[in-house]
Amino acid sequence: MPPFRGGDPGSNPGTSTNKSSLNPKESIHDLKSYHYPGGFVGGTVLDIEAIRSDFPILDRRLPNGKQLVYFDNAATSQKPQCVIDAMSDYYREYNSNAHRANHTLADEATTALEEARSAIATYFGTSPDQMIYTSGATEAINLVSYGWARENLSKDDVVVLTEMEHHADIVPWQQLSKEKGIEVRYVPIDTESFTLDMQAFEIASQGASLVCVVHTSNVLGIRNPIERIVEIAHSSGARVLLDCAQGAPHERINFDSSGVDFVAISAHKMGGPTGIGCLLVKRDAMDQMGPFMTGGSMIKTVTTDGSTFQDGHAMFETGTPRIAEAIGWGAAVRWLDCFDMQEVHSHIHDIASWTAEKISQIDGITVYGDPSRNDSSGAVSFLHDTIQSQDLALLLDEGGFAVRTGHHCAQPLMDALGVPSTNRASFWIYNTMEEAQSFVRHLESVVARFS
Ligand SMILES: Cc1ncc(COP(=O)(O)O)c(C=O)c1O
Repeated sequence: MPPFRGGDPGSNPGTSTNKSSLNPKESIHDLKSYHYPGGFVGGTVLDIEAIRSDFPILDRRLPNGKQLVYFDNAATSQKPQCVIDAMSDYYREYNSNAHRANHTLADEATTALEEARSAIATYFGTSPDQMIYTSGATEAINLVSYGWARENLSKDDVVVLTEMEHHADIVPWQQLSKEKGIEVRYVPIDTESFTLDMQAFEIASQGASLVCVVHTSNVLGIRNPIERIVEIAHSSGARVLLDCAQGAPHERINFDSSGVDFVAISAHKMGGPTGIGCLLVKRDAMDQMGPFMTGGSMIKTVTTDGSTFQDGHAMFETGTPRIAEAIGWGAAVRWLDCFDMQEVHSHIHDIASWTAEKISQIDGITVYGDPSRNDSSGAVSFLHDTIQSQDLALLLDEGGFAVRTGHHCAQPLMDALGVPSTNRASFWIYNTMEEAQSFVRHLESVVARFS
């Protein structure tokens, strides 16, 4: 039984009282038996066919009879069978609230919830006490803004953002600026190389209290030079918040060795369910935080005169936890742990760079980003000069290809690129070069017919 902090006083602290009960770990989460033998398939050492067989949805045909080709992974990834099973087993066999009652099901639910926390924290190279469950990256960033920044920043303190941030990492800081008068500085991108202007970053960081940077751009697919960013920010005395919503599905994040103060992650882009994610927080930063959402579970005592709060991560997890979602995410990280993420990266990189090169040769198509760079991964954004992006998405969907269209919640980046929207094909571990080839052929035929 891993140690954890209980919820409301008098609640079940999770001590197992019924030894004959289902052991959720053994019965549900023992996923190390998933074994992916090596062997070269399409230029990669991953056995992509075996991987694909874990994702039932990939066999799906659309209503028009076309085989689904899922290239919208940066919006959300598909879920392996073990995640679907872990969640449905919870609902079928031990659905109960956690950290509350003293009965067998409550005990099993509490145990599974906390074992998932341990698995997820370990996957991200840290300990469970430095991890706070949230609803996703958006809530994790808001938690930094409400829980840390409102406690520690005041008028004229500086928060540094970049032009390539997702709205989730812009709007909370604009709100804080309105409320507290903090200064928000935006680091521009170089629109030739599609990379951050690091000279401007160095200047902007001077005197800053917090630097908020996206690990990997959801539009450009480019990974920022995080190690250098942390070095510069810390030498200026600023804390660093990393938005790893897109980084975590493509790279093994090691929180403790990264030196980063806050990391925001969404489960659903890395094989886990929607509705859950986390904020990883350095201990000393957590000590500076005050409560965000208040109510049940996060308190020690409540009287009509006032309340006292739990210590550590329990102070930030209010109300009934996301139990099924945590269990599902735990299963997802155990599944992902079977793979070498560098191999995953190079598999995805091969497909993305090949696709970008091919589609950039199609008349009228411009690719935004440089997927041939080794620090680029997963996302290929493009636009045709006469076919509207919405129309193009529908024409691609007719062929079975699911891509994202729009501003991708990154309007300042769209403004910098001088476009209102793009189409975006984004790839993950189960995509194949054959899918990319049929995508390019379909796009060529659409452009030939409609431009
Ligand atoms: C870079 C980035 N940050 C933050 C988010 C927000 O994630 P969520 O909607 O899961 O909270 C996304 C989602 O697309 C993203 O791509």
